[in-house]
Amino acid sequence: MTALLGLDLTGRRVLVAGGGPVAARRVRALVLDGADVLVVAPQVCEEIAELVGDRSIAWRTAEVAEGDLDGAWLVHTATGDRATDAAVAAWAAARRTWCINAGEASVGSARTPAVARVGEVVLGVVSAGAPDPRRSRTVRDALAEHLRSGGADLRRRRPAAPGSGRVVLVGGGPGAVDLLTLRGRRALAEADVVVTDRLGPTAVLDELPGAVEVVDVGKTPGHHAVPQHEINRILVERALRGQVVVRLKGGDPFVFGRGGEEVLACHEAGVPVEVVPGVSSVVAAPAAVGIPLTHRGTTAAYHVLNGHGGLDAAARLILAEKSATLVILMGVAVLGELVADALAHGADPATPVAIIEDGTGAHERVTRAPLDAIVDRARLAGVRSPAVIVIGDVAAPGLLGGGHPTDPADATMSL
Ligand SMILES: C[S@@+](CC[C@H](N)C(=O)[O-])C[C@H]1O[C@@H](n2cnc3c(N)ncnc32)[C@H](O)[C@@H]1O
Repeated sequence: MTALLGLDLTGRRVLVAGGGPVAARRVRALVLDGADVLVVAPQVCEEIAELVGDRSIAWRTAEVAEGDLDGAWLVHTATGDRATDAAVAAWAAARRTWCINAGEASVGSARTPAVARVGEVVLGVVSAGAPDPRRSRTVRDALAEHLRSGGADLRRRRPAAPGSGRVVLVGGGPGAVDLLTLRGRRALAEADVVVTDRLGPTAVLDELPGAVEVVDVGKTPGHHAVPQHEINRILVERALRGQVVVRLKGGDPFVFGRGGEEVLACHEAGVPVEVVPGVSSVVAAPAAVGIPLTHRGTTAAYHVLNGHGGLDAAARLILAEKSATLVILMGVAVLGELVADALAHGADPATPVAIIEDGTGAHERVTRAPLDAIVDRARLAGVRSPAVIVIGDVAAPGLLGGGHPTDPADATMSL
């Protein structure tokens, strides 16, 4: 039978007999585990030589001898010669030192598990009977996939040690729960606290275990959003308490998301912070309704703006020259001003415009019209935020073969 044990190898001597690729794989893992590795072999492969070169490991250039086991907590033998491996295993057994015999795993007193790290959890798989490394790896991959996709509650159950808290900024994508990344889901599975607002895949909050605290800092009718400095304070204060804090944000945390300020606040407070990129509504909302921001032969660039800031010089030039696609976020309330500005600076009144509301969400809808008609069309349709405005030839109906609305009444349509 095989018992699985978690070993702390930090600073502990591990002897690796042999210098070939099998030994190299083990050496690489041992270095990551912090072991004090001694390789004994007449020659070593390039990978081991590099580790010797940067002083990550020691190398004795010789055939392995019994004395090499002095001070070793663990031995790994992969000399390529069965008799030598068997001799090393026998020396280790005589000294009561665990030994992995890579040449013949059933003969050694220890085996290497197939390992995966998922956040703070280390997963190891070994066979109880005869060794079967390929099966172990297959099982390991399936279990790791389950954990990485948020399939298990990975929160710590024991009180956290002071200083072990951290913040993870998770880009949740445009709204559809299945556009939240696996990495984002895994972060949620580890969270003690989730700080969220109104955009993004808020439905995922219903799936969290009851013990996970959800702090809503978004705008709700009649209530203003929590100011940014207060959000920063909440993130830092919870992490300093030792909690794992997920800041769930719509789209990507760094696209008009004030994620940069949250990272800076964590750095200033000495709190570890990680960023999980998200699928931004900039590209996702148009893509979901069949609008490519670039399209070979039509447009080869796009420019993204926050509508509240008005058109910048680059946007005016782009519109006048039709040299790129213009994408505007947070622009619904100021659509009239933006269009007037564009037309005053030489934009073609016939330039196609599409407004995508609630891209990938339950109320996804696209409203299209030429630039000089879009304000009236949007008012008639009752277009509301959140919406992405796309201006340029890629927004023309039927670019990718979809229907052409001929009747203005058909111009508001879901593709
Ligand atoms: C504060 S910005 C955040 C953008 C976000 N970080 C991102 O990468 O998508 C909010 C704006 O993003 C756009 N937006 C976000 N989600 C959207 C969605 N599902 N459909 C359309 N527009 C969306 C809207 O323009 C909204 O006003």
